[in-house]
Order: sequence, then C-alpha cells, then structure tokens
Amino acid sequence: MPRVGIFVCMGWLVLAVTAQGAEGTPGQAPHIETGRRVYETHCASCHGAQGEGAPNWQQPDVHGELPAPPHDTEGHTWKHADGMLYRIVRDGWRDPFNKTERLTMPAFGQILSPAEIRAVIDYLKTLWSPEQRRFQIEESRKAPFPREAG
Ligand code: HEC
Repeated sequence: MPRVGIFVCMGWLVLAVTAQGAEGTPGQAPHIETGRRVYETHCASCHGAQGEGAPNWQQPDVHGELPAPPHDTEGHTWKHADGMLYRIVRDGWRDPFNKTERLTMPAFGQILSPAEIRAVIDYLKTLWSPEQRRFQIEESRKAPFPREAG
C-alpha cells in the first residue's frame, strides 16, 4: 500500500503548512511548550503569569526604574525584531532613562541555552495579535535570530 502512505504523508504536510501559514503564527511546535515552561519558571515572576506585566508598569518605581512591561498585546515586545529580543534576554536590559545603572531585566545568557532563549521568545509570540505577529515577522527579516540560536 505505498500509495496510501504517500497520500497520508502529503495530507500531514498540507496540514502542517496551513497550520503555520494561516495566522502568521509560529505554530504549536513542541518548542513552544518548552518556551512556556521557561516563561513560567524564569519570567512570570516579573512579567506576570499571562504576560500582563508588573502593576503600574508604565510608571517608574521609587528607585526611578521602570517595572517589567507586559509581553501581551498591551506591551511593545512585538515591535522588536527576533535579533533584538534575543539580545535583550541573553544580555539583559535597562531603560536608558532609569535612575540606576543596574540591569533591571536580568541577563539569561548563563542560565538558559540558546535554544531555550529562542523558545521563550517564540512562546511570547503566541500572546500577540495576528497583526502584531505579521509586523514582527517583517521586522525580523532585517534582524533575525543569531546563528547561535539555531
Ligand atoms: C527580575 C525581573 C525580571 C525577570 C525575571 C525577567 N524580566 Fe524581562 N524585563 C524586566 C524589566 C524590569 C524590563 C524593562 C527594562 C527597562 O526597559 O527598563 C524587562 C524587559 C524585557 C523585555 C523588553 C520588552 C520591551 O518591550 O522592550 C523582554 C523581551 C523581556 N524582558 C523578556 C524576558 C524574558 C523572556 C524573561 C524570562 C526568560 C524575563 N524577561 C525575565 C524584568 C524582568
């Protein structure tokens, strides 16, 4: 029955391609599940269980530091290309207008593998609207994930 086998394979291929293409989503690849676990373990304490951000995230706190922003449709994570998001998570980040010099967004380069960093970023994409995802895909053409991210 080799023919049947070929048809079944093609069916899966079509399904896989449409699932990926339909909404411009990164799909529900297994590494999205990895990304969700990484998020819950390492990011949710500051950025919120659903990526909703810290309370009053738009106001500098008593130290003059900006709290953790949301990663959902309300935030602006989706405006950054893959390359930039990867650097923020690997190397850490602080708002240049913060009154302190410390990295308020910690560096995860020593804690997470390149594949885990990529997975958690791809998980964040599931929190965005289809328009935001499309915008970010365009941005990422110019600044994709670095090679180390696989
Ligand atoms: C200790 C709290 C803390 C943890 C834990 C943390 N972050 Fe952040 N993160 C921040 C803060 C605070 C900022 C904002 C920095 C600023 O702009 O001053 C930030 C900013 C960011 C940004 C930039 C967002 C933007 O709109 O520019 C990304 C992306 C990000 N974090 C991803 C992550 C991911 C992914 C994790 C988990 C691997 C994580 N963060 C864990 C505090 C945290």
